[in-house]
Amino acid sequence: MNSETVRSLGDVSETMLLTLYARAMESQSPNPILVDEKAVELFNRLKPLAAEQEGNLYHKVVEGDLPDLLKYTMSLRARHFDRQARDFLQRHPDGAVVNLGCGLDTRFFRLDDGRLHLYDLDLPDVIALKRQLVKETDRYQMIASSVLDFGWMDELVRERPYLFLAEGLFMYLPLADVKALVLELQDRFPGCELVCEVFNESWLHGWRGRIMKRKLQNDMSMGSDAMFQSGIADSEAMAQWRSGIEFVDDWSFVDADEPKLGVLRLMRHWSMFRKLQWVVHYRLNEPT
Ligand SMILES: C[S@@+](CC[C@H](N)C(=O)[O-])C[C@H]1O[C@@H](n2cnc3c(N)ncnc32)[C@H](O)[C@@H]1O
Repeated sequence: MNSETVRSLGDVSETMLLTLYARAMESQSPNPILVDEKAVELFNRLKPLAAEQEGNLYHKVVEGDLPDLLKYTMSLRARHFDRQARDFLQRHPDGAVVNLGCGLDTRFFRLDDGRLHLYDLDLPDVIALKRQLVKETDRYQMIASSVLDFGWMDELVRERPYLFLAEGLFMYLPLADVKALVLELQDRFPGCELVCEVFNESWLHGWRGRIMKRKLQNDMSMGSDAMFQSGIADSEAMAQWRSGIEFVDDWSFVDADEPKLGVLRLMRHWSMFRKLQWVVHYRLNEPT
C-alpha cells in the first residue's frame, strides 16, 4: 500500500476517513457504543499514510482533533445500520446485504455469522484502497463502480432477497440521481429493502445551507466538493416517487437514548432536529 492510493481520493471519498476514525476511536473508549476491532486495525494501518497527506481533514484525523460528537453519532449510526441488517437477515436467512458507498466500513466483520453474504460497493479509487486492506471471500465481495452506473446490478443474482444500505451517501448525490437509483432497484429487485440516510432539504439552501457548509468545512475539514447536494422533506417523501415504495420506519441518533449524548438526547422531541439528518427504511415492492 502506498501513499498515492490515498492521495488520489476525491473530497467525498476522503470523508470515509472521518467515519472510520469515529468507529475506531469509539471502539477503544470506555463503554463503547460500538466495538469494531477491524476498524481499529484499518485505522492504525492507514494513519501513517494519512500523516503524509496534505489537507486539513488528514491532519485532524491523525491528530484526533475532531469533536467527540462525531464519534458518538457515527458509531450510533453504524450500530443502527448493523441492527437493520441483522433484522433483515433474520427474516431472510438466504438474503444478502449490499453496502452502497461503503467507504472503509467493516460491516462484514461486525456482522459475519459464518453465512453472511455482503457486497461492498464504492468508487474504483476507494475499492482499490480497500482491496489492499481487506480480503474478499466467496461471501464478501467488493464492487468497484459508481452506484449510478447501474451495470453493477448485473453482478447480483436476481432471485435473492436484498437489503441495500446507503449510509452517508445519498446527500452527496443530486436528488434526480438518487431517485433514478431507487426506481432502478425497485425495477430490478422487487421486494428488496432499502435503509438510507437522508438529509433535510430545508437545510440545503439559504442561511441554513450556509450554517451546514460552515459546519462541514470548518468543524470537519471536509473538502469543497464534499458538500451536501440533496435532501428530502420527510420520511414518506420517497414513497411518493412511485407506487409500491413503502415507508417502513425511521430513526435518528437522538432516538438512541445514549448517555454519551448528554442533553442532546432531549432533541428527540424536536422534530426539526430529529430529522435534520436521519435514516429511513423502505420496502421497494413491485409497482402496481
Ligand atoms: C461519508 S462516506 C461514508 C462511507 C461509509 N458508508 C461509512 O459510513 O463509513 C461517503 C462514501 O460514499 C462514496 N461515494 C460517493 N459517491 C459515490 C458514487 N457515485 N458511487 C459509489 N460511492 C460513492 C464515497 O466514495 C465515500 O466512500
